[in-house]
Amino acid sequence: MMNYILRMTVLGLCGLAMTACVSPNSADRIRSENHSDGSIARIAFGACNNPRIDPVGMYPAILGEQPDVFIFLGDNIYGDTQDMKVLQAKYAKFGAGAGYQKLQATSQVLATWDDHDFGTNDGGNNYPMRKESEQIFLDFYKEPQDSIRRQRPGIYSAHTFGTAGETCQIILLDTRYFRDELPKARYEEGEKPKDIVGWYQPTQDTSLTLLGEAQWQWLEQQLQVPADFRIIASSIQMLSVEKGMENWGNVPHEQQRLFRLLKESNAKQTMVISGDVHFAELSKVDIGGYPLYDLTSSGMTHANRNWAKAKNSIRVGKSFAQLNAGVIDIDWNAQQVVLRVIDQDGKTALQHTIPFAELQFK
Ligand SMILES: [Fe+2]
Repeated sequence: MMNYILRMTVLGLCGLAMTACVSPNSADRIRSENHSDGSIARIAFGACNNPRIDPVGMYPAILGEQPDVFIFLGDNIYGDTQDMKVLQAKYAKFGAGAGYQKLQATSQVLATWDDHDFGTNDGGNNYPMRKESEQIFLDFYKEPQDSIRRQRPGIYSAHTFGTAGETCQIILLDTRYFRDELPKARYEEGEKPKDIVGWYQPTQDTSLTLLGEAQWQWLEQQLQVPADFRIIASSIQMLSVEKGMENWGNVPHEQQRLFRLLKESNAKQTMVISGDVHFAELSKVDIGGYPLYDLTSSGMTHANRNWAKAKNSIRVGKSFAQLNAGVIDIDWNAQQVVLRVIDQDGKTALQHTIPFAELQFK
C-alpha cells in the first residue's frame, strides 16, 4: 500500500512537471518534449478496445498491475465514421467507462491511434476528416493547449521520464495521418495460403509513405534524445510482416529506413511495441547486429484465434489468442526489462526477459 501511495504521489508530481518542463529553447524542446523527472518502472499497454463487445475487458487485470504509464496503442475506440458528432460521442462513452476512469486516475495515460479511432478501417491520408479527428483525439486525451502536438499535423509525440541513469523515452508514432493507400494482393479463388490472413502485399513503389517526411525528420531528432531505455510504439506490427495484414512490411523501404535510422542513431536499449492484430506475440529480428524486439499486444475486448495462427517465422515463443495486455517492467538495478503478456485474470501468458547488455549494436 505504501508503494502504491508513493507511486501515486510521484505520478501526481510528474503530472505537474509534464506541463512545466516544455522549454522555449529549440534544442531543449527536442530533448524535453513532454519530460517528467519522476522515474518509471512499469509500463502497460493495450489495443483494440470495443466496450460494445465487452465493457469490462482487460481493465481489471491492467489496474491490478498498477502501471506507472499505460499506453493505448490504437483502435482505442471503434469510431469508423465521417460524422464527428458520432466520433465524439464514442470517445465520450469510452472516457466515461469505469475502467478508463480508474486507469486515468491511477496511471499516466498516453495514446496513439490506429485505423478505427482515426476514423476508418485500414485508413490513411485519404480519410477526409483526419484534421477534425485529430482535434477530437487531442481534446479527449487532454493535450495541453500549448502542446507542440497541437502545432503540427498528426498525433505523434515523445515522452521522457526520469533522470540520468533511469531515463525512459516513449515515442508514439502516427501510422495513419500521413499513410498513403497501399496495394493489396490479388488471390485467385482457393489460392490464398491458410497462414496468410490479410490482403496486403509489400509495395515496390518507394514514393509511398507510412510516416510521412515531417514525422521521419522528427523521429530522427527524437532518437538523439539521451535515454537509458527507449520504446517505439507503433499501432501496427513493425517486424512480423508475413501475415498479409497491415504492418511495416507493406512498405519495406520505410521499414528498412527505420532499421537504418536506429543503427545510425546507435539507438541501444530500444524496443518496439505494437497492437492491431487481436492476439499477442513477441517478434525479433537482427538488424545489422542488433536484436530488435516487437512486443505485440492486442485485444482488450476481443481476440481472434485464427489470426493468432498466422505465419510469423520470427516469433519468439508462442502466440496468445485470448484477451490480453502487455506489461514491461524495467529493472533499473538489474539493468534488464521483463516483458509480459497478461490475460483477463491478470495471469502471465507470455514472458521474456531482455538484459540491457543484449540490446547493443555489435
Ligand atoms: Fe487496426
